[in-house]
Order: sequence, then C-alpha cells, then structure tokens
Amino acid sequence: MSEQTKQWTANLIPSQSGRRVVITGANSGIGFETALELARKGAEIILPARSLAKANDAINRIRKEIPSASLVPAVLDLASQASVREFASWFSAQYPGPSIDLLINNAGVMAIPKRELTVDGFERQFATNFLGPFALTALLYPHMRQQQGNRIVIVSSSITKFAKIDFANLQSEHRYSPMAQAYAQSKLADSLFALELHRRMAKAGSPVIVTSAHPGYAITNLQTSGPGTGLSPFQIVAAILKPFASQDAAHGALPTLFAAVAPQAASGDYYGPDGFSELKGYPKLVPIPSAAQDPKDAERLWREAETLTGITFRP
Ligand SMILES: NC(=O)c1ccc[n+]([C@@H]2O[C@H](COP(=O)([O-])OP(=O)(O)OC[C@H]3O[C@@H](n4cnc5c(N)ncnc54)[C@H](OP(=O)(O)O)[C@@H]3O)[C@@H](O)[C@H]2O)c1
Repeated sequence: MSEQTKQWTANLIPSQSGRRVVITGANSGIGFETALELARKGAEIILPARSLAKANDAINRIRKEIPSASLVPAVLDLASQASVREFASWFSAQYPGPSIDLLINNAGVMAIPKRELTVDGFERQFATNFLGPFALTALLYPHMRQQQGNRIVIVSSSITKFAKIDFANLQSEHRYSPMAQAYAQSKLADSLFALELHRRMAKAGSPVIVTSAHPGYAITNLQTSGPGTGLSPFQIVAAILKPFASQDAAHGALPTLFAAVAPQAASGDYYGPDGFSELKGYPKLVPIPSAAQDPKDAERLWREAETLTGITFRP
C-alpha cells in the first residue's frame, strides 16, 4: 500500500459520477455511511432494504446532506431466497444488460441468542450473512459491467481469525453458540466466498475485481439488533472494549469504502482498521486468516451454497 493511503479518509474517494452501485444493508450503520459517501461523490445507488419504508427513510437521511443524490429504493430480505430472486428479477427488469459498477455485500446480522430458522429452513445467520449474499451475487453477476475499476466487495469480520468452518454443522444443527460459532462461521464463509470468487473471476479473465473488508469494532445497530440488550459474555467484552477500542459507523465504513474504490486495492485484498487488534483506525491491508485461505474448503462451500440455494454460479 502506498504512503498516500496511510490515513485514507472518505475525502479521497475518486469521483463516482456515472457509476451504479448496489449496497445491501444501507439503511443502517456501516452500509448507510458507505452509501452516503459514495452518493456524495456522485454514484447512483440502488439501496435495497428489508422494507420500502426503511429504504426510503435512508434515502431521506442521505438527501438531507446531499439533495441531488441519485438513490433508488428497493426491497430485499437476504434471509429469504424468494426475496433475493424477486429483487434480482426486479433489478434485471429495471437495469437490463451490464449495468452495475459496484456491488457491496454489506448487510448482516450477529449473535442471535437462540438458533432461528429462516423461511427456507436455514440457520438465520448463515442464511443472511452468507447464503443470501451468495445468491444475490450469483444473480446480479451477469449485470456486472465487465470493465476495469468495477468491483464486488464482501464485508466480513475480524472474528474470522477465530472461526472454523464445520461442514457437518453448517446450519448449526448439532451445536449452536450465537457469536463464537454461528456468527463467526457465517463471516468465515463470507471470506472463503470472497477469495474463491476472486480466484474464479481471475481465471475467467474478468477485469472486475473482488475485495473484502471488515470494520473492526464499529458502534452500530449490529450490537443490539441480533443479540438484544441482554448481557451475554460477548456483550460484556464489547462493553469493556467500547470506550477505548471502538469507533463510529462513519469510521467503520472506511475499510469498505477503500476496498470499493481505492485505485490501490487489488483483487483478493482484505482491508481493516490499522489500530490495536484491527479494532479501529484508518483502513489498511490486513492479513487474511488462514482458515479463509483454504481453496478446498472454499470450493466445497461454493458447492454447498449452490445446492442449498439451487443457483449455479459460474463467473
Ligand atoms: N459493527 C461492527 O463492529 C462490525 C464488525 C464486524 C463486521 N461487521 C459487519 O458489517 C456489516 C454491517 O453491519 P453494521 O455494523 O452496519 O450493522 P447494522 O447497523 O445492524 O446494519 C446491518 C444492516 O443489515 C441489514 N440486514 C440485516 N438482516 C437483513 C436481511 N435479512 N436482509 C437484508 N438486510 C438485512 C440491516 O437491516 P435492518 O435495519 O432491517 O435490520 C441493516 O441495514 C455486517 O455484515 C456485519 O457483519 C460489523
């Protein structure tokens, strides 16, 4: 990474004028800040949220700062394969052909206290954080404009350092622990997916690159939307770290923004904050945990995802 990127901020985002971006989870937290900064630089943003009301609320908040922003609301529930397909069909009808410059898979949910199943019968974190984004990426991939500078970004988590993928327990059907196992496994799946997508697209000769990022510890709705306001061991640790090792959502969005637009970012790269234990700070290239680098696990996970979603993805 060049000297120039040492204290990279959103001010350094190049013009996004003429670029169309799809960001999931942009009505809240890191996704909202990502959308705000890309809109500020002139991108047209498709902003699918779980309801039209949530998407429009985010659009109104962005327009308060950037009245001329080009923002399109849509509905997408990543925990429902039917909803992912519906959104993709809507998108294809609205924007046929190669029409996306940047796809940011940001939406996620964390540490749901008790194992929950989605309408499709999948464990909710695995479904929302991985299977939904896998299906969405597969269905939108034909719309990626195959040109240099265009990207797919996958938002992972630093918890992947401690995560394991257990193919006998992908849906946490045999053992469920909200954070250390189910959430961690779903985010490791994201990292495995990012690298496998990078390898497959590079092999196919695509000029589109794949990057991933994690925000460190950013104060957003994530800490309460899944786990609620109770006091689990994870919530106690989070409360202890909060005063000195956390950052706001705007700073948490910087690694994602860097991964999405910085000219220095290369396919397969992973970005996170540069501070203590990658919890806060400016974006920097960070090591990819070894569990995410296993190509055999990545291929196997890809096949599992194709089987579970019923979508064949051949970039
Ligand atoms: N904050 C951190 O410290 C941290 C650390 C590591 C990784 N991350 C990752 O960063 C990403 C963004 O999280 P955040 O911190 O910004 O949390 P957030 O404020 O809770 O935002 C999460 C977004 O995901 C959306 N979402 C949740 N379930 C969804 C579903 N089934 N379908 C579609 N959208 C759904 C949420 O929509 P609703 O508003 O409808 O719930 C919200 O827009 C996540 O992938 C998370 O795993 C965050």
